[in-house]
Amino acid sequence: MKIIRNIAEFNQYRNTIGKQQVGFIPTMGALHAGHLSLIEKSVDDYQLTIVSIFVNPTQFDNKNDLDNYPNHLDDDLDKLKSAGVDCVFLPSFEHIYPDEYSFSITEKNLSGKYCGAHRDGHFDGVLTVVMKLFNIVKPHKAYFGEKDYQQLTLIKQMVEAFFMPVAINAGVTIRESDGLAMSSRNLNLTAIERKTAPKLYQIISSGLTIEQMKSQLANHGFKLDYLEILDNHLLVAAYLGSVRLIDNIKINKLEQVA
Ligand code: PAJ
Repeated sequence: MKIIRNIAEFNQYRNTIGKQQVGFIPTMGALHAGHLSLIEKSVDDYQLTIVSIFVNPTQFDNKNDLDNYPNHLDDDLDKLKSAGVDCVFLPSFEHIYPDEYSFSITEKNLSGKYCGAHRDGHFDGVLTVVMKLFNIVKPHKAYFGEKDYQQLTLIKQMVEAFFMPVAINAGVTIRESDGLAMSSRNLNLTAIERKTAPKLYQIISSGLTIEQMKSQLANHGFKLDYLEILDNHLLVAAYLGSVRLIDNIKINKLEQVA
């Protein structure tokens, strides 16, 4: 497995790939089975799989969240090697932002809602880094999780809006055995919070009305950012202590929750 830390070296590597098809999974590391499910799909589908690990500061609106973001690089590299990844790209801020974030991608509708309404500039940061990574890696297909449903939707819209030559593949949300959606941030939950955390998924899957779900979430100590419908998905974001959890479920009938 090649480990590349700068763009010049990555460009050299990219030139050696020739016509081989490339699958790409951008991540922020602290890899878990959710990330690995996307990586396995790419390893199955494509001749070459490239993974990036870059904790992107421009998508964090909260310095504490950025400072506390878990870093498990050695473990991550072991997991990627075992998964059959061909190349890991580990750029630094200077490599990705030679312009010091003077240029950015802004979407004007969906970006301001749901997570965007609570995390100022979050999706500008996400869309900008994903476009930069696509321009560097030049993948044929990139893999994103439905766990971050709003992010996935915006990335699909960006690719369409800018005629970007990459296909977007969506992977289902991978959960712990108690239903909690896997997330790197789960590592920051205390033992007591970790016991409560699966209630988030249980409550949004309960078939109760949105108002009833809100009161149940409050009863279990969740501080709700939002619980709202986007397309045919019910999206939730809530704090448990200092950790922000997000999740969503597909709803077949809107009257289920209205
Ligand atoms: P990160 O949170 O590391 O997630 C990387 C990818 O893994 C995303 O596409 C995310 O949706 C997916 N993922 C996370 N948890 C998952 C789960 N439980 N099941 C399935 N897929 C899951 O999302 C980001 O990083 C960043 O915003 C990024 C796109 C890399 C841009 O910086």
